[in-house]
Amino acid sequence: MERLAKIRQLMTEEKLDGLIVTTAANRRYLSGFTGSSGILVISQEHAVLLTDFRYLDQAAEEAKAYGFQVKKHQPAILETVAEEIKAQGTKARSKWGFESENLVEKDYRTLQAKLDRGILTPTEGLVNRLRRIKSVDELGSIRKAVEITDQAWARLQPELKPGRTEKEIAALFEYFQRELGAEGAAFPTIVASGPRSALPHGVPTDKKIAAGDLLVLDGGAVYNGYCSDFTRTVVVGAAPTADQQALYDLVLKAQQAALDGMRPGVTGKDVDALARKVIAEAGYGERFGHGLGHSLGLEIHEAPRLALTDETVLETGVVYTVEPGIYLADWGGIRIEDVVVVTETGIEDLTASPKTIILDSEDRHMVK
Ligand code: GLY
Ligand code: MN
Ligand code: MN
Repeated sequence: MERLAKIRQLMTEEKLDGLIVTTAANRRYLSGFTGSSGILVISQEHAVLLTDFRYLDQAAEEAKAYGFQVKKHQPAILETVAEEIKAQGTKARSKWGFESENLVEKDYRTLQAKLDRGILTPTEGLVNRLRRIKSVDELGSIRKAVEITDQAWARLQPELKPGRTEKEIAALFEYFQRELGAEGAAFPTIVASGPRSALPHGVPTDKKIAAGDLLVLDGGAVYNGYCSDFTRTVVVGAAPTADQQALYDLVLKAQQAALDGMRPGVTGKDVDALARKVIAEAGYGERFGHGLGHSLGLEIHEAPRLALTDETVLETGVVYTVEPGIYLADWGGIRIEDVVVVTETGIEDLTASPKTIILDSEDRHMVK
C-alpha cells in the first residue's frame, strides 16, 4: 500500500490522472506480482493488475497486500487496458501516463486509438525514482544474492584449472549459484581468459584456459527477484607476471579510491572521476572505456550510475556496483566489481570475496 500511495503522490506532482505500467520490474515493484505478464492501470481511486488466466490465483494472492485488484484481460490486452481506463471513470482529456522507455510505438498507437477519453502522456523513470532507495527488505534480498555469488566464487576456485573451457567455468558458476539458493543468474555469466579477457563483456567460448592466463569472471545471482553483480580477475595455473600484478594493483587502487570517496552528497560523476584519475595518471585512461558503476535491484542495471555524465547525488540506501577495468588488446583485461550500499557516512561494501589475483586453491601451490 505504501508504494501505491507514493506512486499516486508522484502522479499528482506530474499532473497525471492515471498511469499505465508495462515494465516488468515496475509491475513487480508496485503490485508484488512476480509473474511474467500483465499491465497495471492506476488512478487515484483504483489500482488494477490485468493479467491472463495462467496467473489469476497467484496474482490475486501476491497483489492483495499491495492494494491491487486483479482482473483477467482479453486476448488483446490493450483493449482491456482501454476498457479499464474507461471503467475507472476517466474524464474527457484526462492525462494517462505511460512508460515511454517501454511501451513500443505500435502499442502506443493502438492504445491511443482505443481510448475515447484519456490522452496518453509520456513519462520517464517515474517508478524508478521510488526504486532507487532500497527498503530494509530489499537490501536483505540483495545481501543474500551477493552472499550467494561470493560463496559460488569460493566454490569455483578449485575448478579453475588449465584445460577447462570458458563455457564449462561459466556453467559451473551458475550451477553453484543455483545450488546455493539462487533463482537463476542475474545475466549470462561472462568468462573470458587469456587475451580474450580484454573483451569487457566476453561471451564464454570453447577456448581452453591455459596456464598463466588472466581469467575475468563477471556473474550474478537473483534472490527474491533481486540481483547481485560481481567480477573478479585471477591468473590460472601460474604465478602472476610482474605486468599482470602491476595492472591488477592499479585497478584495485582505482576501485579503492572510489570506495573511499563515496558518501551522501557527492555525485555519480565525482565518484567516477576518482577511479578514472588513478587509471589515467598511470597512462591507461583510454583503456578504461566504460562507466564506473550502476545501481541494481530488481534489474541488473538501474539508474543512477557512476559515470562521466551522471550528476545524481549519492543518497543513503542506494546500491551501486563499483567496477573499474583496464583492457589491453592482445594482452588481456582486468576488472574488479563489488556491490556497495551508501550509508550515512560512506558505504558498506556488501561483496566479501577477497580481492587478489592469486587463486585461493591448489593452484596456489603452483605459485613459487
Ligand atoms: N555484468 C554486467 C555489468 O557488470 O555491468
Ligand atoms: Mn558485472
Ligand atoms: Mn555491473
